[in-house]
Amino acid sequence: MHFFTYKQNELYCEDVPLKDISERFGTPVYVYSAKTLKRHYAVFDSSFGEIPHLVCYSVKANSNLAILSLLKTFGSGADVVSGGELQKALKAGISPKKIVFSGVGKTDEEIERAVKKKILLINVESESELNRLREIAHRSKKQTNVSIRVNPDIDPKTHPYITTGLRKNKFGLAISDAERLYLTIKDDKYLKPVGVSSHIGSQILEISPFLEALVSLMNLGERLRNSGVDIKYLDIGGGLGIPYKDEIPPHPEEYGREIQALLKGKDYTLILEPGRVIVGNSGVLLTRIIYVKRTKDKTFYIVDAAMNDLLRPAFYNAHHEILPVSSKGSEQIKVDVVGPICESSDFFAKDRLIPNQNEGDLLAIMSAGAYGFSMSSNYNERRRPAEVLVSGKDAYLIRKRETFRDLVKNEIVPGVLKEGIL
Ligand code: LLP
Repeated sequence: MHFFTYKQNELYCEDVPLKDISERFGTPVYVYSAKTLKRHYAVFDSSFGEIPHLVCYSVKANSNLAILSLLKTFGSGADVVSGGELQKALKAGISPKKIVFSGVGKTDEEIERAVKKKILLINVESESELNRLREIAHRSKKQTNVSIRVNPDIDPKTHPYITTGLRKNKFGLAISDAERLYLTIKDDKYLKPVGVSSHIGSQILEISPFLEALVSLMNLGERLRNSGVDIKYLDIGGGLGIPYKDEIPPHPEEYGREIQALLKGKDYTLILEPGRVIVGNSGVLLTRIIYVKRTKDKTFYIVDAAMNDLLRPAFYNAHHEILPVSSKGSEQIKVDVVGPICESSDFFAKDRLIPNQNEGDLLAIMSAGAYGFSMSSNYNERRRPAEVLVSGKDAYLIRKRETFRDLVKNEIVPGVLKEGIL
């Protein structure tokens, strides 16, 4: 469910024609719908209505400050995986008491910051990290809430690059190792083992792997409670899938209902870390066709967006629907939609049926709100695109398009080189 719809053959975001956005802000440009974000958040959050829970939006999916600030107004916390994400969540006004920090390679600097800010949970992913955390918490004399991320060895049946809860993955610790480590910090002066966490993967289209993971967490939680470790939080991560094409993911209400049934009466606070399901279908990448190139085998629509702007097709062979912004009812033709970058993997669609377009026409690459801008780069010295947030009839610029100055602002040509003596 989203608010990108056709009105008199023109594609709109809420009440704003995408064509107007292209004229005002240029292309390529990411366009997000505030109403869609609000709806997705509300549906997700209310799906867990009966049980104590906290939604910690996964910042990596889309970390624009305006999006974070909007989600904060809905009551969202944040799941962060780096010092940068932590800073952004705090800057958006999200309370440290609603922030959880995961990641296999937290640096001392990142841990120190999280300890100092007294965030809700640091999700520890190795024995070495736990030792480091203990040192830092003792040195700074700060009470620190700890959770160990366990790897429940569950196959979520998704793309191998986004599977994280299998034994062979780098994430989390085996349940038996985690259990042993919890007991070592049970009576620690500063480390407070209050949570158990897991995240088994992303774009998951079935409920059963989540339930299996939750049962593992609950069993571990009970064993730890029986050993005197006061576990309060169960964090089941993110991962709920969305429809990109013809997938039928579980509705959040169904997901919530089944989870509630398992947790009822158990006296835990549930933590959820959804990313894609909140922002994925709330955003599109708007792009213009620069050239139509016809070869003996193919028709290429060469557009002004590229894999540096939206990496998912090149990286995962991911499918994104592509809609003409002006649908004049023309016949469908089979095309490759490609970007200008010097890589054959720089494509958005291959052999896709799309209504016949002309040079200068606009296309909307759908479901680009999650892992779109956040995975963008400057490859081929391309300036990263602008981002626009629409609410009703209004469109707000929430990130300026980069300039050529931005491309060189951190680079230094040493004086000796200029003098020709290096
Ligand atoms: N929590 C943790 C610890 C995570 O690692 C992730 C995603 C999430 C939550 C949020 O998962 P979500 O609800 O969005 O599925 N770049 C890939 C997705 C990578 C996901 C990485 N971790 C893509 O474009 O499909």
